[in-house]
Amino acid sequence: MSGRLRIAITKGRLLEQSMALFERAGLDCAPVRDPGRRLVHSLPNYPLDAVLAKAPDVITYVEHGVCDLGIVGKDTILEKGGSFYEVLDLGFGRCRFALAAPAGSGFFDTYKTRRVASKYPEVTRRFFAGKGMDVDIIKIEGSVELAPILGLADAIVDIVETGATLKANGLIPIEDVAPVSARLIVNTASMKLYKDQIEDFITRCQAGLENET
Ligand code: PRP
Repeated sequence: MSGRLRIAITKGRLLEQSMALFERAGLDCAPVRDPGRRLVHSLPNYPLDAVLAKAPDVITYVEHGVCDLGIVGKDTILEKGGSFYEVLDLGFGRCRFALAAPAGSGFFDTYKTRRVASKYPEVTRRFFAGKGMDVDIIKIEGSVELAPILGLADAIVDIVETGATLKANGLIPIEDVAPVSARLIVNTASMKLYKDQIEDFITRCQAGLENET
């Protein structure tokens, strides 16, 4: 490493809030705020390069050590797992995983094997394994709310933020599965090799979190 840390940041919703946090921590994020099509940006006043990536890839890059740090949702961490340190709950990107079903469908009121659709089959599998309940899990890539509407599944396990999407599609949350928010993760080797630099960055992020108005 040439004296600079590299951080992979999840593109989309978490990126804007990550930049706001970094700015409260005193980092100049101008290059990332105007990224164009560029995916790697050097911050001008702090030895940090920001890499913009999709959530599961943030974990892959951090696990392989090509990025020292990452910002990714707990939803992706719970689904994909992996070997890294999860050092800080950044508090933003707050939502939850919930089990939801069509109103009045009595999801738990039967011994028949239920079908559950989700973009997160591993989270779903663990949730029902924890209940000792055998379900068929169907992997869906997005807009999972369609699966019960189309008759493909009895319920879904999905991210719920405001609950508006569930409501608009005739579904009601029947049980919370896990809380979700953005996390700062660190490669295990980087944590040892660049301890002082990484600790400085974590301290700045903590200060940024405390500065929140
Ligand atoms: C997520 C999630 C729900 C929606 C929940 O979808 O899968 O569909 O947001 O938000 P709400 O409770 O505030 O309505 P996303 O927009 O990420 O797209 P996707 O369904 O294609 O994954």
